[in-house]
Amino acid sequence: MRIILVGYGVVGKGVTTILARKYTEKVKDNGFSPKIVAIADIDGAVINPRGLSPEKLEAIRQRGYPISADPEFGHKGMPALDVIESVEAEVVVEVTPVNIKNGEPALSHITRAFKTGKHVVTTNKGPLALAMPALTELAEYNNVYLRFSGTVGGGTPMLEFAKKCLAGDKILAIRGILNGTTNYILTEMSQNRVTFQEALANAQKLGYAEREPSMDIDGFDTACKVVILANWILNKKITLKDVDRTGIRDVSLQALDEASKRGNTIKLIGSIDGDKATVKPTEIPKNNPICVSGVLNAITFFTEFAGEQTLVGKGAGGIETASAVLRDLLDIRHKLATKILA
Ligand SMILES: NC(=O)c1ccc[n+]([C@@H]2O[C@H](COP(=O)([O-])OP(=O)(O)OC[C@H]3O[C@@H](n4cnc5c(N)ncnc54)[C@H](OP(=O)(O)O)[C@@H]3O)[C@@H](O)[C@H]2O)c1
Repeated sequence: MRIILVGYGVVGKGVTTILARKYTEKVKDNGFSPKIVAIADIDGAVINPRGLSPEKLEAIRQRGYPISADPEFGHKGMPALDVIESVEAEVVVEVTPVNIKNGEPALSHITRAFKTGKHVVTTNKGPLALAMPALTELAEYNNVYLRFSGTVGGGTPMLEFAKKCLAGDKILAIRGILNGTTNYILTEMSQNRVTFQEALANAQKLGYAEREPSMDIDGFDTACKVVILANWILNKKITLKDVDRTGIRDVSLQALDEASKRGNTIKLIGSIDGDKATVKPTEIPKNNPICVSGVLNAITFFTEFAGEQTLVGKGAGGIETASAVLRDLLDIRHKLATKILA
C-alpha cells in the first residue's frame, strides 16, 4: 500500500514512527506492507516512489531544516495538492491542523484525493464536522474509502467499538467525555479547588491546552466529535451547526462544591439522544463509569440488547493517534481484499 502523508507534525511523525516500528510485527502479520512514498508539509514535500526513510527525515529535521530540504528527494515549496495530484499512491493520510471555520486545508486535500481515486485516512475533525454527510457521499461516488478513527478518542477505538463490536445491536444513545483538556480543567477545579483560570493556566503550562483555548473550553472540539459519532454510528446527517453547545467557562467552584455534596461532579458531556446533539457541562454521579479524571476520555453507548457499554482511554497523543491511523489503513486493506475476493 503506497501512502502519501500530508502534515508532518505530532501525529504525522507518529505515523512514520509507528509504520516503521510496527512493520515487522503487527503490520507484516497482516500481510500488509505500507510504504510512505511522499510527505507534504507546510513548506514543501519529499517524494520517493520506492519509500521514504523516517530516520533520514528526522535527521534533517534535527539539523533544523524542513524535510523538503532533503537533497535527494526534497521538493521545496511543492504544495500538498500537487503532491496528491501527481504522486501515485493508494491512500492519503491527512493530518494537518484542524480548522472549523472552513475545514481548510484538509477539505481540499481530502476532496483532491477522492477525485484522483485515493482512499483517505484522517485525524482532522474540521472537514468532518463541517461537511461529513457530503464527504461520505463524495467518497462513495468516487468509489474510495474515508476513515477517521483518530478523530474521536485518539487511539481509543471508540468509533470501531460501536461500529464493529456492537454490530447487530441498536445504539439508542451516546454520552461521553470526549475532550481531555476540559476534563483536566474540571478535575483540577473539583479535586484541588483551583479556579477555572488557574486550572486553564496549568493546562497550558502542561501543554494540554492551546494558548488560544477556545476550541476546547467552548466545547467546539467535543461538538466536532459529537457530529462524527452522530453521522458514523447513528446515521444522522448533521454538521457542527446542529449541535447545541455550551462550554465550561461558567462552571464555578461553588457549583462543583454543591454537586460534590450530592455525590456528583460536573463534566463536559457530549451526547446524542434521539434527534438532540448536545455539548454541555452536566452533573453526573462520581460513580458513573464515564466519570474519569484528568485528561482521560470515556464514552458510554446505550444499546437495545447489550445494555450500557463504556470505553475509557487516552483521547490524544501523537503515537496513540497514529495507532488509529494504522487501524484505518488495515481496515482499508481488509475492505479492498474482500472486494477482490467477492
Ligand atoms: N496531537 C494529537 O494528539 C491529536 C489527537 C487527535 C487528533 N488530532 C488531529 O490531528 C491533526 C494533526 O495534529 P498534530 O497534533 O499532528 O498537529 P501539528 O503538530 O500542528 O501538525 C500539523 C502539521 O501539518 C502542517 N501543515 C499545516 N498546513 C499544511 C498544509 N497546507 N499542507 C501540508 N502541511 C501542512 C503543519 O505545519 P506548521 O506547523 O508549520 O503549520 C504541521 O507540520 C489535527 O487536525 C489534530 O486536531 C491530533
